[in-house]
Amino acid sequence: MPTQAAGILGTGRALPNQVLTNTDLEKMVETSDEWIVSRTGIRERRIAAPDETTSHFGTLAAQRALAAAGLKPSDLELIICATVCPDMMLPSTACLIQARLGAKQAAAYDLVAACSGFIYGLATARSFIEAGHCRYVLVIGAELLSRFVDYTDRATCVIFGDGAGAAVLGPVENGRGILAHRILSDGDYAELLYNPGGGTRYPASETTVRNRLHYIKMRGNELFKVAVRSMADTVTQILDELHLSPSDVDLFVPHQANQRITDAVAERLHIERERIYANIERTGNTSSASIPIALDECVEAGRVKPGQLLVFASFGAGVTWGAMALRW
Ligand code: UT7
Repeated sequence: MPTQAAGILGTGRALPNQVLTNTDLEKMVETSDEWIVSRTGIRERRIAAPDETTSHFGTLAAQRALAAAGLKPSDLELIICATVCPDMMLPSTACLIQARLGAKQAAAYDLVAACSGFIYGLATARSFIEAGHCRYVLVIGAELLSRFVDYTDRATCVIFGDGAGAAVLGPVENGRGILAHRILSDGDYAELLYNPGGGTRYPASETTVRNRLHYIKMRGNELFKVAVRSMADTVTQILDELHLSPSDVDLFVPHQANQRITDAVAERLHIERERIYANIERTGNTSSASIPIALDECVEAGRVKPGQLLVFASFGAGVTWGAMALRW
């Protein structure tokens, strides 16, 4: 047991106002509301306005998380922004958020682990706090996937949405907070979900734009199987480590990738619907933002009570995946 346990002290979220429905998408690509709902569970997703950026929503979510934690920006010693949709290639979106918050005591950096970014960020924050290197750490998951989605590609454009969620972590009494986590990756699957243009392999040029290399490409069907297996296995591993079983889990908050993925993972783990939080119907897949947005909704709705066991699980591009168990 660590000398200093780390837990979540406050959460926040921020979503764009504009709603993109399945009916809207029917006018853009050859798809149908029936196909999208039955294959993904998504009915609508939020899309940012042209003048809004990832750091805008990240900052709003962070301010709400700080307020919920009863802390000031100057209390923060570290800011981690998990994103695959940075405002710019350079500098980090975390630094832009740090400036807007006025968190002058904090180091800030971005973390690229796609949909697993929030769990990777929590794992990092846990290590800093347990080791005594930081007292308060802000972890943000913020994505404007609409800026990188090809709205002529029905295989991706129906899935993704925009938004941000955040959590402030700090010291909690032993036995509470983060109890166990496991984060993993397998780069052999890198090209199942990727955005090839604009980096060193294909620097931005007229040709990369003409060939649509600045958009996300996804082999969804192949990802699906790896996602279900890895999320279910990792949850089992962390529960085993704690000598607990899926029946001990009060609330399972998975990455909202696809309702069918959540259902398949839940079936493998024997966790019934009442103990699973799902909001994909309204948000779509918001990558690293999906777990903190879902968690903040749970907190707001009073679905999380002190002493309860929460489990998060995620899977995303890389591929990366992970799971975490917390005592609230
Ligand atoms: O966030 C973490 C990383 N991402 C994921 O984990 C995503 C995981 N994958 C998925 O969520 C699903 O694979 C998708 C929702 C992306 C696709 O669902 P699927 O059931 O795996 O469909 P599929 O790709 O096997 O395609 C089945 C059929 C194909 O037609 P044919 O070849 O059977 O005639 C597709 O062309 O559905 C067609 N299709 C569509 N039809 C209507 C693909 N996208 C659409 C669409 N509307 N939007």
